Amino acid sequence: MKKRIAILPGDGIGPEVCESATKVLNEIGRLYNHEFEFVYGDLGGVAIDKTGNPLPEETLTICRQSDAVLLGAVGGPKWDTLPGSQRPEQGLLGLRKQLELFANLRPVTIYDALAEASPLKSEVVEGVDLLIVRELTGGIYFGEPRERRGEGKQETAVDTLVYSREEIERIVRKGFEFAKERRGHLTSVDKANVLESSRLWREIVEEVAKDYPEVTYTHMLVDNAAMQLIRNPRQFDVMVTENMFGDILSDEASMITGSLGMLPSASMSQNGPGLFEPIHGSAPDIAGKGIANPLATLSSLTMMLTFAFQMPEEATALQNAINDVLAKGHRTADITNDQTTAISTNEMTEKVIEALVANQVPA
Ligand code: NAD
Ligand code: IPM
Ligand code: MN
Repeated sequence: MKKRIAILPGDGIGPEVCESATKVLNEIGRLYNHEFEFVYGDLGGVAIDKTGNPLPEETLTICRQSDAVLLGAVGGPKWDTLPGSQRPEQGLLGLRKQLELFANLRPVTIYDALAEASPLKSEVVEGVDLLIVRELTGGIYFGEPRERRGEGKQETAVDTLVYSREEIERIVRKGFEFAKERRGHLTSVDKANVLESSRLWREIVEEVAKDYPEVTYTHMLVDNAAMQLIRNPRQFDVMVTENMFGDILSDEASMITGSLGMLPSASMSQNGPGLFEPIHGSAPDIAGKGIANPLATLSSLTMMLTFAFQMPEEATALQNAINDVLAKGHRTADITNDQTTAISTNEMTEKVIEALVANQVPA
């Protein structure tokens, strides 16, 4: 099969983890007889430096003309003093909005071999398999007005948290759909004791639940959810929540797996191309050192193979390769306590490719 993939490496470690991904995709193409064509676009800081715009029109066009989009990460100290509307992050938010990527899937699965890498006790994290379904194109990230008013002691800053019924309903429905396919339990996370938008959210969960009698569901306040994720993460199957809560809870949940460098994501729209990216950022503290963990990005590829290309065999092969590499004890610096044995981004990539080749069932 021929597939066209828009690659947006972005900033910091973004290009390093994207290079790992293209090498692995090339190998999967070779082994399983697919042609993956890569078209590169600028997003974030690199795009600001070249064009003055974090999301150039050309990048949007490249994405729209592709079967899937792979993103590294955007942002970094170089652009931190720019006005909010001109920052690299605005490029990513604009892309999500323009492609209508309202459903962000962030699976949190613990690899047996990594139970020791988590700062949490292994008996707490063993067997965790949960999915955060994060609303991605609404809420406080996009609400208007957002502005500064007044000056000096009178100065105020305004952000607006707004959700429409339609925006809530479509993401809640996604949550129920995934719960139905998985273990049949949904936790809806909100702040209904304080926020009006959360009270509307809760009402809509109650309504949508009627269409999914086979799914059990609970409402949980976000502060409690943050605590429960650490206390007993196995209680969760699917968690559905609004944009900012999902952002914060997913970084927190990454610690169950041992590192932010492990968590993948897929962002989906009703019908356009999906966007696949690690949940981590540009990691300025390790950028350029060649030590970033590429596994979050490679796991994002398994989601691309599954959701965008309907290639379950290839997705399983890549997942198995990642499992095998970890089981053999190969570790980047972020997932080992013994830094003397840590391997580089390139070495980890080569190990995954070797495992892919070793596991391939001859045709
Ligand atoms: P970050 O996720 O970049 O890094 C947090 C910590 O995790 C750092 O210590 C980093 O070294 C480590 N880390 C992250 N990914 C890793 C990997 N693959 N391997 C090993 N270690 C890894 O978060 P931050 O430092 O708060 O943000 C840095 C910049 O990234 C900011 O400009 C922020 O806006 C941006 N950011 C972008 C995205 C995105 O593009 N999707 C996501 C989050 C943050
Ligand atoms: C993420 C990031 C982004 C977000 C930023 C960079 C805009 O933290 O993808 O999780 O907050 O959504
Ligand atoms: Mn985030």
